[in-house]
Amino acid sequence: MSIATSLARAWLTRSFKPFTFTAEMDETLDFAELERFGLYVHIPFCRSICSFCPYCKELYSKEKCDGYIDALLEEIKMVGASLPEKKEVTSLYFGGGSPALALDRIGEILSRIGEYFTITDGVGIELHPSDVTEETLLCLKGAGITKISIGIQSFSDGYASLLGRKAPDAEAIRRALAAVPFETVSMDFIFALPSQTFEDLKEDVDKAFEVGANHIAIYPFIDFTFTSSKVKAMEKGEKRALLDQITGYLTEKGYQRESIWTFSKEKGANYSSMTRETFLGFGASATTLLKDSFKVNTFSVEAYRERIQSGKLPTSLTTRFTERKRMVYWLFWTAYSTKVDERDFERFFGVPLKKKYGFELWLAKKMGYVTEEDGVYRMTLKGAFFYHHFEGYYTLSYIDKMWGLMRKQAFPKQMQLK
Ligand SMILES: C[S@@+](CC[C@H](N)C(=O)[O-])C[C@H]1O[C@@H](n2cnc3c(N)ncnc32)[C@H](O)[C@@H]1O
Ligand code: SF4
Repeated sequence: MSIATSLARAWLTRSFKPFTFTAEMDETLDFAELERFGLYVHIPFCRSICSFCPYCKELYSKEKCDGYIDALLEEIKMVGASLPEKKEVTSLYFGGGSPALALDRIGEILSRIGEYFTITDGVGIELHPSDVTEETLLCLKGAGITKISIGIQSFSDGYASLLGRKAPDAEAIRRALAAVPFETVSMDFIFALPSQTFEDLKEDVDKAFEVGANHIAIYPFIDFTFTSSKVKAMEKGEKRALLDQITGYLTEKGYQRESIWTFSKEKGANYSSMTRETFLGFGASATTLLKDSFKVNTFSVEAYRERIQSGKLPTSLTTRFTERKRMVYWLFWTAYSTKVDERDFERFFGVPLKKKYGFELWLAKKMGYVTEEDGVYRMTLKGAFFYHHFEGYYTLSYIDKMWGLMRKQAFPKQMQLK
């Protein structure tokens, strides 16, 4: 698998050179000319740490969290102040960690962002199930949050305890959601857990829509090497059968596949901090994707604060794209939405998609991975599984390597992804 994917990457980028990330200290970011980009804010604190979780997070303390938010406000100011005038952005997502632990400061962060940016398509926040109370939701809504994403993982006692968590209280969630509605209520599930059946998964997703979700995300369990989880990932064939069955079931019930892992009940219900052409990330471990570069902030909360206090941005590693690498990166993340519109490619790169990848698209059609209609390429079920499989592989090898290193070193000198 690793030889095949390395060759695929080399072929598509027309280069055998790996992605090289180097340590660069930024004082400003070159984003003033970008259009339709998104914002992300990372809040890395949790009440307790889940053994399977790869994200950048620490145990919560009020003092640590407040010091961090002070630095975050400063980072937003440092980046935003370089703009000649207020800039339009599509969306803002708060992720973590459990960002609701900073509930009393979400309004402050939003007003700092509002000094430099105008958000056109809404503000989302990730919530731990224990944050889903009427009081917290009212406070979030009052601050301007329009979408929520709840990390359910599983409603079943058995699978929740396998993941080392308590099963969420579905009735309490139902009551809170009925009292405080949001434009998007998304629920996250981890599936493909050992011995999990289609019936088990179906029960989970049915319950989600029943208690108030209008959008769901189902992520196959990934066994990251640097986490201490003892849970083993499901074998490929079994995972594919489960994904195909649940996709068939949800499609039959009239839900829309919004992206490779997400399904929505209503038009307008969406939650994705990933499928954006360009974005700016604030906070420890946040990433920034510009027209020709990709940056990762330091994962160390302490180093993050120190950098900001010294008047510099907290960028740890940066990679600069060649045109082909940027195209592959764009296609990979756009394909996450299960469709690619050739007009979007041409708008972004100024060159027709067919001119650059005509042979690959012809081959993908021939092999039954995509269909084409009026310049829009849509993945078939087979194509979606193929993508899912490669995405899983790249996530495991690239994210595992990068996050594994970043957790150990605040500012590594260099890193290569082959
Ligand atoms: C930042 S996390 C969680 C949000 C919230 N803190 C919580 O725990 O409910 C975002 C989502 O990533 C998914 N996730 C975390 N670890 C995973 C893993 N090892 N494999 C697959 N999905 C994972 C979970 O579904 C989780 O809800
Ligand atoms: S899954 Fe959520 S609560 Fe658990 S450690 Fe990760 S971010 Fe924190």
